[in-house]
Amino acid sequence: MSPIIAPSVLASDFANLQSEIIMINESQADWIHIDVMDGVFVPNISFGMPVIKAIKKHAQKPLDVHLMIVQPERYIETFREVGADILSVHIEASTHLHRTIQQIKASGMKAGVAINPHSPVSLLQDVIADIDLVCLMSVNPGFGGQKFIEHTYHKVAELKKLISERKSSALIEIDGGVNQDKAKPLLEAGADVLVAGNFVFSAPNPKAVIQRLKSIR
Ligand code: DX5
Ligand code: ZN
Repeated sequence: MSPIIAPSVLASDFANLQSEIIMINESQADWIHIDVMDGVFVPNISFGMPVIKAIKKHAQKPLDVHLMIVQPERYIETFREVGADILSVHIEASTHLHRTIQQIKASGMKAGVAINPHSPVSLLQDVIADIDLVCLMSVNPGFGGQKFIEHTYHKVAELKKLISERKSSALIEIDGGVNQDKAKPLLEAGADVLVAGNFVFSAPNPKAVIQRLKSIR
């Protein structure tokens, strides 16, 4: 099976957002990855609801929204209204994660949980059967263009084991520093979804890069 490819618009040209979304529509990408940062949970501020709404107007693929914000439970309904299809919250930012997951699903979205490089995969054991996606951070969240943390390979394998033990149908998404070299071993370890920001958008031909990632395996 070929991987799900989710280009991250954080690395796109915000002054030409419509043409960037059209490029993704025309490419072999499966999802559009959208990074929301609040300057509190992470040391950077990206964009919020109005920008997602504008993206949704042109997007022909599901919006995979990655919330890097404190108290994400306050905004579940709002993100659904602006067009999120998949909504991921950070385990480190969620006090009542189980309830938040149920609320995301009840509002009609797929529920994801994102985990930072320092958080062990075992923290997910009591929610893994309830969720659709684990966003495994392979960099410390906050910025695009960072170096991939090699320990991620072990975490993918551990997570794969946990998913099968708990009979979960959660997909494993890798977020941060993904490029052509990392993609193959990640897929071999059990990854299902590859997020790619700079690797796609800094290339002279982003569609060709997406096509190359898509055809690995
Ligand atoms: C990092 C974000 C990532 C980022 C990935 O905080 O969650 O989605 O956009 O960008 P690259 O692929 O450039 O590391
Ligand atoms: Zn992300």
